[in-house]
Amino acid sequence: MKKVEAIIKPFKLDDVKEGLTDLGIYGLTVSEVKGFGRQRGHKEVYRGAEYQIDFVPKLKIEVVMPSSLVAEAVKVIQEKAKTGEIGDGKIFVLPLEEAIRIRTGETGDDAL
Ligand SMILES: Nc1ncnc2c1ncn2[C@@H]1O[C@H](COP(=O)(O)OP(=O)(O)OP(=O)(O)O)[C@@H](O)[C@H]1O
Ligand SMILES: [Mg+2]
Repeated sequence: MKKVEAIIKPFKLDDVKEGLTDLGIYGLTVSEVKGFGRQRGHKEVYRGAEYQIDFVPKLKIEVVMPSSLVAEAVKVIQEKAKTGEIGDGKIFVLPLEEAIRIRTGETGDDAL
């Protein structure tokens, strides 16, 4: 299993979610986060406001999936989250040791 974490522009959430559920992903977690990338000190526009960087609002999506789905999931996220402007975000892929579905006690891929 892997955990795919994607930091995206907030208005891209629905597109990304749809792309991932089409792939057969059963669950995901979304958090409101703030961050910055390479343009520290430069301007990034968010909802008409110019953030003189430091911290720009983003969403973080976390999805745990079988390793076999990662390549496709990364591709879908990249396609759906891309505007071509700065601040489109990043995708990180992490190894994931174990998953347990609390209600049933299932583990591993079965728990997803
Ligand atoms: N190295 C990193 N580690 C953790 N989070 C990061 C990292 N780089 C970017 N992020 C997160 O992703 C968000 C978006 O980053 P962003 O897309 O601006 O990266 P970038 O490298 O500046 O690319 P671009 O040049 O396209 O803007 C940041 O606000 C931050 O939350
Ligand atoms: Mg940037």
